[in-house]
Amino acid sequence: MQHASKLPHVGTTIFTIMSALAKAHNAINLSQGFPDFGGDPKLSDLVCKAMNSGYNQYAPMYGNLELRIAIAKKMELLYQTEYHPEHEITVTAGATQAIFTIINTFVRLDDEVIIFEPAYDSYEPAVKLNGGKPITVQLEAPDFEVNWNAVREKLSSRTKMIIINTPHNPSGTVFSKDDMLNLQKLTKNTNIIVLSDEVYEHMIYDGEKHQSACLFADLKSRSFVVSSFCKTFHNTGWRIGYCCAPKELMDLFMQVHQFNVFCVHHPTQKGIADYMQEPKHYLELALFYQKKRDLFLSLIQDSRFRFKPSKGTYFQVLDYSQITEEYDVDYARRLTIRSGIASIPLSVFNTNHMDKKILRFCFAKKDDTLKRAAEILNTI
Ligand SMILES: Cc1ncc(COP(=O)(O)O)c(C=O)c1O
Repeated sequence: MQHASKLPHVGTTIFTIMSALAKAHNAINLSQGFPDFGGDPKLSDLVCKAMNSGYNQYAPMYGNLELRIAIAKKMELLYQTEYHPEHEITVTAGATQAIFTIINTFVRLDDEVIIFEPAYDSYEPAVKLNGGKPITVQLEAPDFEVNWNAVREKLSSRTKMIIINTPHNPSGTVFSKDDMLNLQKLTKNTNIIVLSDEVYEHMIYDGEKHQSACLFADLKSRSFVVSSFCKTFHNTGWRIGYCCAPKELMDLFMQVHQFNVFCVHHPTQKGIADYMQEPKHYLELALFYQKKRDLFLSLIQDSRFRFKPSKGTYFQVLDYSQITEEYDVDYARRLTIRSGIASIPLSVFNTNHMDKKILRFCFAKKDDTLKRAAEILNTI
């Protein structure tokens, strides 16, 4: 039998390739975005407790109500905004499922979806699988700022959705208030849905404030705000996230969600709900990761890599243009095999593979791992 692929251009992701390469060559793995330390044992205990207290059958379709109430309280505390826990918040299988389901709910054949590149890798395939056309807007290194005139020029009567991501993977930049106001202005009086990927909302540095789409009334009315407990609580394998949106949008989302996963792992939801009763568990994250960023950057400040400190996420991009002219994918492979340190080349986040001699390093690592990584980078 022969079957045509729905995604003929998709192969094994670079994340899998680089992690496998790191393992094969015993390299320090700063490529994939996950911590090399465990989450809080208190949280694991709460999840176990939930399991032992009978939270083992289907959760409600929107998610465990206590968790939705905890999310609503968090949105109120951080953004002074209201999402009704009963019909405006849904717990999902990681942010990835929220993103896929939002796209699946709204994007139809030939609809256009604006994506800023470099971009997280799940957006484009999800758009294509639903018959949509990704329309890319390039963010240019080193600042990766949005050219809103370029966005305006790409809008058309077929624009169904704009996907934004702040703090931004892979660049570590953040959208400013002006960016959000520009987006609000461009989408006002249109039918455009905004998918605001805010999985790194709590990892924002140097006293900056995260500019969530829900802070801007008109933007909020057309937006899904997506976040991830995997990122926030250092458990990427738990596959749990959520999205918030006004009821009329969430009603449509639920029509798809109920036949997709229906609901997600119940004891984890109850455990997280209990854990979130103490806001410090997510409020402390910014300082925790800022210290890691500062440690990493202070150790490599005299290296030949050039950088601007990451403003958010747990990624730091390093420019190696002073070191070699090599194509970033080749250089990342060589660094892994020869020098023992794995990273992700930025060109893989661009569909046109534009290479600006930049690599992405994940600093969600033990201090000791960061020190060993810096020692290597300093010898290059
Ligand atoms: C920008 C961005 N969005 C979404 C995700 C997916 O998050 P989750 O692990 O909760 O599915 C990631 C994970 O790396 C990401 O970097």
